[in-house]
Amino acid sequence: MCGIVGYIGSRDVPSVLLGSLWRLEYRGYDSSGIAVISNSELIVRKVPGKLSELEELIKRKPVSGELGIGHTRWATHGLPQENNTHPLLDCNEEIALVVNGIIENYLSLKDELEAKGHIFRSLTDSEVIVHLIEEHAGKGLTEAVRLAVKKLTGNFAFAVIKISERNKIVCARHDAPLICCYSEKEAAVASDMSGVVSIFDEVIDIPNDSIVVLGRGKCSITNFQGREVKFTRRKVTIAVKDIDKGHYPHFMLKEIYEQPKVLHNIVSERIIDSRIQLGEELSISEEELKKISRIVIQACGTSWHAGLVGKYIIEKFARIHTEVDISSEFRYRDAVLDSDTLIMAISQSGETADTIAGLREAKVKFLKVLSLVNVLQSSIHRESDGIIGIMAGPEIGVASTKAYTAEIVNLYFLALHLGILRGFVSRAQLKEHFSALMKVPEQVEQILKLDSDIKAIAEIFCNSRDFLFLGRGLNYATALEGALKLKEISYINATGYAAGEMKHGPIALIDHKMPVVCVNPRSSVYEKMLSNIQEVVARKGIPISVVTKGDRRTKGASKHVIPIPECHECVSPILAVIPLQLLAYHIATLKELDVDRPRNLAKSVTVE
Ligand code: AGP
Repeated sequence: MCGIVGYIGSRDVPSVLLGSLWRLEYRGYDSSGIAVISNSELIVRKVPGKLSELEELIKRKPVSGELGIGHTRWATHGLPQENNTHPLLDCNEEIALVVNGIIENYLSLKDELEAKGHIFRSLTDSEVIVHLIEEHAGKGLTEAVRLAVKKLTGNFAFAVIKISERNKIVCARHDAPLICCYSEKEAAVASDMSGVVSIFDEVIDIPNDSIVVLGRGKCSITNFQGREVKFTRRKVTIAVKDIDKGHYPHFMLKEIYEQPKVLHNIVSERIIDSRIQLGEELSISEEELKKISRIVIQACGTSWHAGLVGKYIIEKFARIHTEVDISSEFRYRDAVLDSDTLIMAISQSGETADTIAGLREAKVKFLKVLSLVNVLQSSIHRESDGIIGIMAGPEIGVASTKAYTAEIVNLYFLALHLGILRGFVSRAQLKEHFSALMKVPEQVEQILKLDSDIKAIAEIFCNSRDFLFLGRGLNYATALEGALKLKEISYINATGYAAGEMKHGPIALIDHKMPVVCVNPRSSVYEKMLSNIQEVVARKGIPISVVTKGDRRTKGASKHVIPIPECHECVSPILAVIPLQLLAYHIATLKELDVDRPRNLAKSVTVE
């Protein structure tokens, strides 16, 4: 996924574009660039590297102008090298374009355009758009864009400027996020509201399949057929401080430490007068919820792990058969789904392409979709029948932390709600669960106090080549999540596995060099997990065990232990993941890697 931005107005255009790109950098950071129109000149500055390098380049070769566009890239087609870096230009270098998305029919379009004499400078799919616009430039930029989008297949959001029409920025979106804002003196467009948070306090969610013409004090939105589209503004719901690191060295560490506050807010919002309040956008009636006989959760990465926890607790409290699918599998398996199946999507960003596709697969089959999302007004929010906002606040670090624990707590409340509706959870039991959940923020605080002990363990193992993470039951997901955290920011080969499955293969990996993180809080599978730890020891593996404070037996079998507070079994995946987040964070920083911008990754994968 990429970040795009555009600005027209009286502020210093390069500074506004750069400021916005810094806030959008989490969307992709292989390369970046800006294009500015100054008088009748189109000036481009772009680098196949980090945003800091673009900033340096602009300091060395300053630009100024009346309007401009900018881009920060997560490469899909074409290496991160200068010619593939956006903005992309037409043959005559009069039009500049920045794109987020994938043009699936770009090869046939490229052949057509090259046959007409267009010269392509990049290997990207996106470049076909600027040449399509160039084809129709004589009809005016807006009409040229309208004609161009009709030829595109895939998903895209783009902004384009032209020297001879330098009073406007024209943008278009189809199945990729884009917002805009304007006042009487200026206007801006960005991939999401974090790109404009420092200059506007209201944004317009650009409707899907729309074309926007932005100017000083001007914003007209039409659909692809040219008909005017009504739009509403909404308040910018994030503050600059929310998307700044503050005193933390990395967003990831800030977000790990925000979890007590985030979890406290969620529990406070979800328990109102001793009853569960799932938010006014649940939009699926109690009658409909009672009729559900099966739930299919589909998600990706960390959100998929949260879904695995959700399965256990929904089946435990609501006795509803619940399956969990990886979205990229669900969308193509033509699942057998009937009318009383509820499809759920879980997504922090609400823009993950595979999860959106899974959601649409369900809608095609006329099934209700209930989604857990963090980013409101995201595509998944807008396309779901009902949503539960997970209330984690903006999560900037590519490695998801607070969104994961927020997703689990919200799934816990949903499971209890369904259990109450279906008569499997009594008021007394509900009180017990409320009590367990209300303790969580303080318990997380206690675990965070072990940070230096966890860092000491990280120092021992930061040069390990491989890690194995083992867990059972609810904490099988914890093992998967711990492994994902480690691999995505430290680039160490880390495998999460169901501990009971270890003897069916992975046990062959264990030797005296293999650190094995064993998640074994007190639980219904504690004894079984302890046996697995013994099996690790018997093969000279090195167990690093997450245990309930005071558990001497697991401690006796482990080389290193990280104690977490005594807690309800269903709460343990929330507590047990905190040490694993910190372990991954410290190993990555000890290896001096870019924790917030891990190589090859982006915060939200808006392409297949
Ligand atoms: C998590 O640390 C990863 N960055 C990644 O697996 C992420 O969870 C996945 O891409 C899903 O993102 P979403 O929750 O925004 O849909």
